[in-house]
Amino acid sequence: MSEESLTDERAPMDELQRRLEAARLGGGEERIERQHASGKLTARERVELLLDPGSFVEIDALVVHRCRDFGMADRTVPGDGVVCGHGTIDDRLVYVFAQDFTVFGGSLSSTNAKKICKIMDLAVENGAPVIGLNDSGGARIQEGVASLGGYADIFLRNTLASGVVPQISAIMGPCAGGAVYSPAITDFIFMVQDTSYMFVTGPDVIKTVTHEEVTKEELGGASTHSTKSGVCHFTVANDAACLLAIRELLSYLPSNNLDDPPSGTGDDHADREAPELDDLVPADPNRPYDIKALITTVVDDGAFMEVQPDYARNLVVGFARLGHQSVGIVANQPGYLAGVLDIDGSLKGARFVRFCDAFNIPLVTFEDVPGFLPGTKQEYGGIIKHGAKLLYAFAEATVPKVTVITRKAYGGAYCVMASKHLRTDVNLAFPTAEIAVMGPEGAVNILYRRELSAAGENASSARASKVAEYRERFSNPYVAAERGFVDAIIEPRATRGHLIRALRQLAGKRQTLPPKKHGNLPI
Ligand code: HXC
Repeated sequence: MSEESLTDERAPMDELQRRLEAARLGGGEERIERQHASGKLTARERVELLLDPGSFVEIDALVVHRCRDFGMADRTVPGDGVVCGHGTIDDRLVYVFAQDFTVFGGSLSSTNAKKICKIMDLAVENGAPVIGLNDSGGARIQEGVASLGGYADIFLRNTLASGVVPQISAIMGPCAGGAVYSPAITDFIFMVQDTSYMFVTGPDVIKTVTHEEVTKEELGGASTHSTKSGVCHFTVANDAACLLAIRELLSYLPSNNLDDPPSGTGDDHADREAPELDDLVPADPNRPYDIKALITTVVDDGAFMEVQPDYARNLVVGFARLGHQSVGIVANQPGYLAGVLDIDGSLKGARFVRFCDAFNIPLVTFEDVPGFLPGTKQEYGGIIKHGAKLLYAFAEATVPKVTVITRKAYGGAYCVMASKHLRTDVNLAFPTAEIAVMGPEGAVNILYRRELSAAGENASSARASKVAEYRERFSNPYVAAERGFVDAIIEPRATRGHLIRALRQLAGKRQTLPPKKHGNLPI
């Protein structure tokens, strides 16, 4: 064969390689260097780190935009600014899209929106999580409304996929304007410290409209969204840590709403006792302790992946395993604001409970709550409707539910925190539990107001004796146990065994809601 015909034969292969290489290069070496210099990995590097080695299968690598305005006809890059496809994490299928900031700032064109929609559709059809790695200047300005339509197409899919497959967003660069609403609908948002930000309107617009001066970081950086707004669920130090954390989160989640979460491994014995727990709850009911010490002592291998650790710290939520089974943990934190329920805590808890219920993850609740936070700020802010969300979420949840009352279970908060009355399957209490309409001091003040004011200088000893009487009668778990509102009083050291046995008993639980289009969560 002549040299010329050999070259001819290779030409189609060369053309393919040339195009794939152009896709691989994205916006080119210089922009890749700029990306690295700003502390960020490229879209492809991120996908490689996220997925099991060699598992990535790219889809639509050769798609280009169709914009002809603003000189765009000559400026096409195969892939058009988003890397899409599927691969595996711990051998389980996932779909991923990664916006490529080196191509038109990762901005969303109508064609790259179609790519994202394609993998979202595939994810729902095939029952696998969608992971979006966001790093984008927003709507592709040259495309106008075509780009906006692309966003809306994605928002629709986010909404329809909600509760069907887990959706995870990582913010690894800019995410601004209406673009924030896709991550906002997804189940979990990771933000990379220092390099990511999210806001609906940026500092310049804010300055013009309200004259407030604020930096991008103050307005929408990872710290802001993990402490003030609660938009961010996990703050991570850098890109690599972000991708590893996503892998860890997925290890607790099923692939879709019809699957069970994967089983854990490890040899932490189901009946392992922890004698130190007998002294965890202080004798003085007003002394704080750290509920996370109970959580990490009880769960398999002490592994607890806390969600929103720096937001509404009075309520702790997160994932762990008990007897190899994934569980969602919801716990009042007596070590912060005495574990009181407030607006932020209720919202945080409600969203977490609903996620777990949607994805067949049993709920374990640890309760030590003095009630709802009093004050005009809470009442004006709508604690009535926000507290109702947590109540609604627990009541609606049909996954296995187990509650342990460690100390206080007072007032409405007793009802809300997965009480027996909300169809919780197994309710346990430590001997230190106090289940009552309110704490002894408050109750005595109301019940004996007249007597105490007439007692003069004997008021304080009269009060002490009434408090003791009230505590004896109501501030204990036995009245609830006598009524069957708690199923058993347990020794704290044996908590782990009780929880695992309860969860095993409930493994086949079947419970349904009355037929309806959907409920009307008090939004
Ligand atoms: C087209 C864009 C772009 C966009 C950035 N680029 N944003 N191209 N559409 N939205 C391009 C730039 O022209 C540049 O191209 C490259 O991306 C990198 O941008 P730089 O500005 O050089 O980078 P940097 O200094 O890091 O600043 C990043 C940035 C800034 C903060 C994101 O680019 C920016 O403010 N962009 C506009 C953001 C915006 O207003 N978007 C619309 C928001 S409204 P070259 O060729 O030079 O590399 C919106 C509505 C969504 O998104 C509505 C959904 C309902």
